[in-house]
Amino acid sequence: MKGEQRQFKRTLVTTALPYANGPVHIGHLAGVYVPADTYVRYLRKKGEEVLMIGGSDEHGVPITLRARNEGISPQDVVDRYHKMIRQSFEDFGISFDVYSRTTSKIHYETSAEFFLSLYRKGEFIEKTTEQYYDEEAEQFLADRYITGICPRCGNPRAYGDQCEACGTSLSPTELIDPHSTISGSVPVLRKTKHWYLPLDKYEIFLKEWILEGHTEWKTNVFGQCKSWLDLGLQPRAVSRDLDWGIPVPLENAEGKVLYVWFDAPIGYISNTRELFPNDWEKWWKDEETRIIHFIGKDNIVFHCIIFPVMLKAEGSFNLPDNVPANEFLNLEGDKISTSRNWAVWLHEYLEELPGKQDVLRYVLTANAPETKDNDFTWKDFQARNNNELVAILGNFVNRAVVLTGKYFEGKVPQGGELTDYDKEMLVEMAGIRKAVEKLMDTFHFRDAQREAMNLARIGNKYLADTEPWKIAKTDMLRTATILNIALQIAANLSIVFEPFLPMSMERLNKILNISSFPWNRLGAADLLPAGHILGIPELLFEKIDDATIEIQVQKLLTLK
Ligand code: MF3
Ligand code: ZN
Repeated sequence: MKGEQRQFKRTLVTTALPYANGPVHIGHLAGVYVPADTYVRYLRKKGEEVLMIGGSDEHGVPITLRARNEGISPQDVVDRYHKMIRQSFEDFGISFDVYSRTTSKIHYETSAEFFLSLYRKGEFIEKTTEQYYDEEAEQFLADRYITGICPRCGNPRAYGDQCEACGTSLSPTELIDPHSTISGSVPVLRKTKHWYLPLDKYEIFLKEWILEGHTEWKTNVFGQCKSWLDLGLQPRAVSRDLDWGIPVPLENAEGKVLYVWFDAPIGYISNTRELFPNDWEKWWKDEETRIIHFIGKDNIVFHCIIFPVMLKAEGSFNLPDNVPANEFLNLEGDKISTSRNWAVWLHEYLEELPGKQDVLRYVLTANAPETKDNDFTWKDFQARNNNELVAILGNFVNRAVVLTGKYFEGKVPQGGELTDYDKEMLVEMAGIRKAVEKLMDTFHFRDAQREAMNLARIGNKYLADTEPWKIAKTDMLRTATILNIALQIAANLSIVFEPFLPMSMERLNKILNISSFPWNRLGAADLLPAGHILGIPELLFEKIDDATIEIQVQKLLTLK
């Protein structure tokens, strides 16, 4: 497999399943769903066979704690947020082929089967260990729900898995004076049996597969994998003592459920099965299918190491071909935090800035945390809208269409002889397809979008340089040539921007009175035939004023 480029027939794109423990915010969109959707729309437009899988992750301890706090059941919690999350994705045009959930029946079955298949092959180690138990809450405590004094630095608020003051990773029994964060009581050690996946057994395989076989992975992803592998892997428990989750499908396993990180990635498989009950295997087992996982950086180890080991141990599934994980998006200089409400929630954005989904998509792609953490600020949001979407893209298209209305009754004019400048312009346009493809194929969406905007920029410059409104006074044929070229550029913009700004490009297609062109027409100078009647001009984007931005900034300031 070393370095060789394989040809694939179809692509399965998965997106991290968000926890149904709260609504989704701009960080989710920027890190995972906008890049994944942009990629999938691009592949579909190229006519490729592609599937986009999503769903809610509905297990795990935080969901049970929220339920306890609100006096409702975990099922109530996930029902509420699953609905909200699904709606937000739909509103932002995230075009899943299936968006399901990990409490579905088929997911319970798929996960149990998967566990049993590993169990029967003898892939698990059974171990009994002592773990902290909260006698008041009557439950075992996950590491992060125990606090105490850090043995290294004396920080009184260290967690059972890590001290955030000195950065040391800890195990709960190392904490001095431990307390349960659920009830506040002092936990006691109790014996408990669990099933472990021996990651260490797969170290050699993983090293060869990733460190030699996937040197093309993004450096942030590759680097994290390498440091995990350099440190050495240990067996990982795949079960927990909890009353919320998928029961361990064995005798004498009462009170034991699958660990949320065991069942969640299997959700990708379950959701494929839900969509194609009879035909799902070709998406997971056919060697001509390529799997791409879109995730945030905190998910890298699960998607590059643990899930691949699960798949490898099971034996009949493909492994991911790429995992283009993003870093984090901050908000006005601070880490986005659900508990501090430091976020821009998608449902609130839509209420307060209705119809502006594509503006957010544009800004999140322009600032995508592709290689390092990045910052979202409302000032930048405004500037990108006003100076780029309005002043460059919207303005160019509008000028081309309005001038055609004025001089040619809204019909694409037949041009005459091309000048050298015209020819240069067309050569530049012809080159855009290869340039954008190269970036899209390597998951460089922000550069790809910049390249697209550059075409609009060139178009604006072309109109400014050729001044058809002046030429029209003396030379209608030259005016026709210029506007014909400008309209071809506008039609090309509708192709190249469609994966990024799907809703606006639908409107642009109406303005141009066209149905959407396939991707391979990008770069062509004959998209609109002479005589074609355009639609009604309308502004694609509108300016966002200071007052609107100030409201958003103030809203955040009240949280400081
Ligand atoms: N719910 C997890 C998170 O938000 C992501 C799960 S991705 C999957 O971090 F692979 F498990 F599905
Ligand atoms: Zn410490």
